[in-house]
Amino acid sequence: MQHDSDGPDLRKEWLHQRTYGALTRFHDTTPMIYRKAIDVPTEVTEWVAGWGGSSLFLTGAIGVGKTHTAWETCRRWLKAFYGPDRAWNGAANIYTYRSTALFDALRPDGPDDVRRTLIKTLQDADLVFVDDLAAAKVTEWTQERLFEIFDERYINRRPVIVTSDVLPPELGPVTGPRVASRLGEMCGSSVVLMEGDDRRRGEAA
Ligand SMILES: Nc1ncnc2c1ncn2[C@@H]1O[C@H](COP(=O)(O)OP(=O)(O)O)[C@@H](O)[C@H]1O
Ligand SMILES: [Mg+2]
Repeated sequence: MQHDSDGPDLRKEWLHQRTYGALTRFHDTTPMIYRKAIDVPTEVTEWVAGWGGSSLFLTGAIGVGKTHTAWETCRRWLKAFYGPDRAWNGAANIYTYRSTALFDALRPDGPDDVRRTLIKTLQDADLVFVDDLAAAKVTEWTQERLFEIFDERYINRRPVIVTSDVLPPELGPVTGPRVASRLGEMCGSSVVLMEGDDRRRGEAA
């Protein structure tokens, strides 16, 4: 750690710059409506603070705020990643995918090398957020690719954030039973049931 010799103030300033840069870059990739800072459930705050290898599963009906909460969680996770409680271990790699786009990218008809690179990237990333996991049906072939990603993350205790309107055990028909079972284990007690009215309907009214 070359920066230890720089003294606490310089190191603090350097980390601050790093955090600011990472958050700015993340902000730029965040869809417009999810950029606003929002409050999150206590379980989410605890998950961010916990830094275990566990994953986070946000579930609930359409419009309760799962996706927005997940983006906010990613921001808080990024801040914590660069926080004073963690040793510096390189820049944060965080990937966010809607499940439909992810499944498309994993399909067998695309170029092999592109798909292999994507799978490796998602296996190794510090955090992967998959939005709306039950939204699309996948073929058995794509389920196998998903399993490659989730199993590698599972055995290395690398976290994922998943939003879905169904619970992990009910994901089987979409992701295949093996991914559903891994996810259940990875999320453990960090399965957050979000409740409330459809916020979108409130807006439209
Ligand atoms: N805690 C919150 N405070 C204010 N607005 C929110 C909050 N959570 C979600 N929203 C807004 O409500 C709408 C629906 O949220 P979204 O996260 O897309 O729901 P879901 O993913 O559960 O279908 C979005 O416009 C979002 O910006
Ligand atoms: Mg959503």
